[in-house]
Amino acid sequence: RGKKAFIAGVADDQGFGWAIAKALQEAGAEVSLGVWVPALNIFETSYRRGKFDESRKLSNGKLMEFKHIYPMDAVFDTFADVPEDVATNKRYAGNSGWTVSEVAERVEKDIGKIDILVHSLANGPEVVKPLLETSRKGYLAALSASAYSLVSMVQRFGPLMNQGGAVISLTYNASNRIIPGYGGGMSSAKAALESDTRVLAYEAGRKYKIRVNTISAGPLGSRAAKAIGFIDDMIKYSYENAPIQKELDAIEVGNVAAFLLSPLASGVTGHTMFVDNGLNTMGLAT
Ligand code: NAI
Repeated sequence: RGKKAFIAGVADDQGFGWAIAKALQEAGAEVSLGVWVPALNIFETSYRRGKFDESRKLSNGKLMEFKHIYPMDAVFDTFADVPEDVATNKRYAGNSGWTVSEVAERVEKDIGKIDILVHSLANGPEVVKPLLETSRKGYLAALSASAYSLVSMVQRFGPLMNQGGAVISLTYNASNRIIPGYGGGMSSAKAALESDTRVLAYEAGRKYKIRVNTISAGPLGSRAAKAIGFIDDMIKYSYENAPIQKELDAIEVGNVAAFLLSPLASGVTGHTMFVDNGLNTMGLAT
């Protein structure tokens, strides 16, 4: 039986979510997406116009397909949580059913049970500000979009998951080590995400018999990373200092995700796995 996957956090072909989708399809899974509401229109237009066709190519020559594409905003759990200004915002008003609980309901109705849940999203409105200058609002927004969103997804999608299923998210080593420039509470959000991965592994492991892991990825020039501003420097730093001196390819993260989400990793849960060319192991810049 082909596995069924839902991936939240794809809005172009540049990020980790896309690469995970690709690795999962190479392994025979059926993939549906949750796309951030304000990004959905441009994603669907680009997709229809063939802008992603080159990167949709699978090794068997076929193009990657998505079973369903849902609008989603992981900052809201139920429709009752949506403030008036968002509900009436013109980028949101044309869409419906995009809060986490509503997307889970739609997935259950359209797909039924799923095996794989991927959280590949983050947002920190004050990411460019040092923690010393971050407002309470900005800090909490980073935690809400980048950490609580995983908790919310496991709460709502856990009941739809087959036993033996697995959840994965993406984290960054700014949770453990000081990465000047990764501000706005994003380092705090990643620390929370990694801690929550352990607690969710226990709670959802007992309750739903599913596994929960996270991948701590090296730098990638995705859209989200470009918004932070110093990604080119990070890529260069990693190239110069990591044990393996090459640029990280998103598919390397996709492949490890496919492994962690597969029965090959049936004994692995609550784990933060580095896919960073080994940079995290260095104690001294070279
Ligand atoms: P990306 O831009 O491809 O993915 C981030 C996605 O999050 C976007 O599709 C965006 O539309 C979506 N998003 C933002 N707010 C949302 C919300 N409220 N609801 C639903 N979706 C929302 O960039 P990337 O880099 O692939 O990010 C994926 C994950 O990888 C993130 O958790 C990021 O922190 C993590 N990561 C990225 C690294 C990098 O160097 N690019 C390094 C380590 C981790």
